[in-house]
Amino acid sequence: MTKDEKISLAGKLSSNPDQFKRELSRFWHHDQEVQTLIDEFSENTVSNFILPFGLAPNFLINNEPYILPMVIEESSVVAASSRAAKFWFTRGGFRAEVISMIKLGHVYFKWKANPELLLENEKEIESFLIEKTSHITENMVKRGGGIRSISIREMKPEMPTHYKLEASFETADSMGANFINTCLESFSDLLPEYFREKGILIDEHDLDITMSILSNYTPDCFVSCRVECPIQDLTGMGGGKDALSFAEKFRDAVDIARYDVNRAVTHNKGIFNGIDALMLATGNDYRAVEAAGHAYASRSGRYSALTEVELSGGLFQYELKIPMAIGTVGGLTKSHPLARLSLDLLGSPGAEKLMQISASAGLANNFAAIWSLITSGIQKGHMKMHLANILSTLGATLEEKDSAIVFFRNKHFNLMPIFL
Ligand code: MEV
Repeated sequence: MTKDEKISLAGKLSSNPDQFKRELSRFWHHDQEVQTLIDEFSENTVSNFILPFGLAPNFLINNEPYILPMVIEESSVVAASSRAAKFWFTRGGFRAEVISMIKLGHVYFKWKANPELLLENEKEIESFLIEKTSHITENMVKRGGGIRSISIREMKPEMPTHYKLEASFETADSMGANFINTCLESFSDLLPEYFREKGILIDEHDLDITMSILSNYTPDCFVSCRVECPIQDLTGMGGGKDALSFAEKFRDAVDIARYDVNRAVTHNKGIFNGIDALMLATGNDYRAVEAAGHAYASRSGRYSALTEVELSGGLFQYELKIPMAIGTVGGLTKSHPLARLSLDLLGSPGAEKLMQISASAGLANNFAAIWSLITSGIQKGHMKMHLANILSTLGATLEEKDSAIVFFRNKHFNLMPIFL
């Protein structure tokens, strides 16, 4: 079907087929070349869903100033980011460090023959697979990445006849999903070949490959980001509170998120407000980063906060540690015009630097959220933006908006159901 045919067909399910078609076409890009490019990112595309692209200024990360591009539909996130960044700008900024860049992938398989045969040939299997896939890894090796190791792991006790071939990779400046999955799918073709060549696989049914896939759990592709200042520098942040009381209240708020899952999820959600917005702006896979972050937050068996605070030696130290497999080449990073622009605005960082910037965005948003929560509450800032949204929904003119904002400055308001 053509795009128009798809719209007409789907429109029959909508309450107003003409309006359905009109609205979808209103958001088509005027430049056909760009539209074709966007269409090809996905399937059955019939229009574009526009989100705000905002700028969060004031970031100082490892002594370099940045303006962060953020794509997010939620009001106050960009404001919160820049507010926190501004606070830390004059206090040393964000200090971010990439701890390691290793990513994992697996071939899961059933093995009915003698398990000893598998484990005793592990080293030979590793060399065989690395050598036989050198044509696939050649370019990645030139860029500084490649396969780092291959081992075989049992899946006992739950799945006693299942094993996983675990491969570790480095993928330079790319997220590496395609590279890793291509290697893994080759391994799954090569594994039976190895056993056949060795004369180990007598019965073909002894080896049954279940699947091959990268792992989005990347605890070894990891970044930490911290801010630090003398507690005295927090003076004036806690409304009427002195600096130490503010710092202690901040620590209590973070501790609540360490021990209470209800709070931990919201606390971490605030971290991802910043990270996801930057992921979207740079064409990265925010679902992968979220999944890894939440799994890491559960590593002890209890879902907990991703940040930690320390008050000692007169210092306030706040740190975020988070796994993050992202890239600055490949995927949408170079093909989406605005992702390209975002990366350019950030000074064309490599993957490591983008990890540091993203962790800073996460820590900034979380710091701003807690700062608000333990002082004025978050509704004050939210409601200002919410009012702007309500006024737009009601079709207010610019002058009407200006006077409504002044009128409601110190008042509570709500959009009554009568308008909905
Ligand atoms: C809202 O999107 C995010 C917050 O709820 C995060 C938090 O509570 O820490 C403000």
